Amino acid sequence: MDLKALIRDIPDFPKPGILFRDITTILNHAEGWRTLVDDLSDRCREYSPDYIVGIESRGFILGAPLAYTLGVGFVPVRKPGKLPAAVFSQDYELEYGRDRIEMHQDAFPPGSRILIVDDLIATGGTAAAAAQLVSQGQGNLVAYAFVVELVGLGGRSKLPAAPIITLLDY
Ligand code: PRP
Ligand code: HPA
Repeated sequence: MDLKALIRDIPDFPKPGILFRDITTILNHAEGWRTLVDDLSDRCREYSPDYIVGIESRGFILGAPLAYTLGVGFVPVRKPGKLPAAVFSQDYELEYGRDRIEMHQDAFPPGSRILIVDDLIATGGTAAAAAQLVSQGQGNLVAYAFVVELVGLGGRSKLPAAPIITLLDY
């Protein structure tokens, strides 16, 4: 199954000059979706995570079946103001301005083996902020997993050190 062939390229979204790699055309393809979850699970299993931390919102789509398949818990990292109990917060730089993500303080016990998942790494700012949240919760970050890496943007150099799993490079 050629997953790269199932990704759709949309020019000038969300802004002129950006070539958007759209994964919804894998998600709605039954065989492609199953292959994606199976491949990602196989690559992540060797790190023996205790929890999958998924980043809103596309990281939820991938992270939930990954956690289910690996037989571990799922922890959502959310945009500000969405989580009801006490949270850790982390600000991060966007191309223009700043954003923030949050995670429940009691989402996992200190020392837990954590694997962060998102659909895509671009500048790396989002995943780096998620790694800071894991660090605030005294998690043991064992790996990152992304379906797509936009290699030219150099995002991986921004990430606190841990193995990085990617399925498709651009
Ligand atoms: C996209 C993507 C990653 C992030 C990657 O999410 O799903 O989370 O951007 O960019 P970065 O490496 O430059 O930080 P987006 O903020 O578009 O949110 P969404 O998942 O809710 O669509
Ligand atoms: N595709 C999907 N999400 C993204 C992209 C992209 O090319 N760049 C930043 N987030």
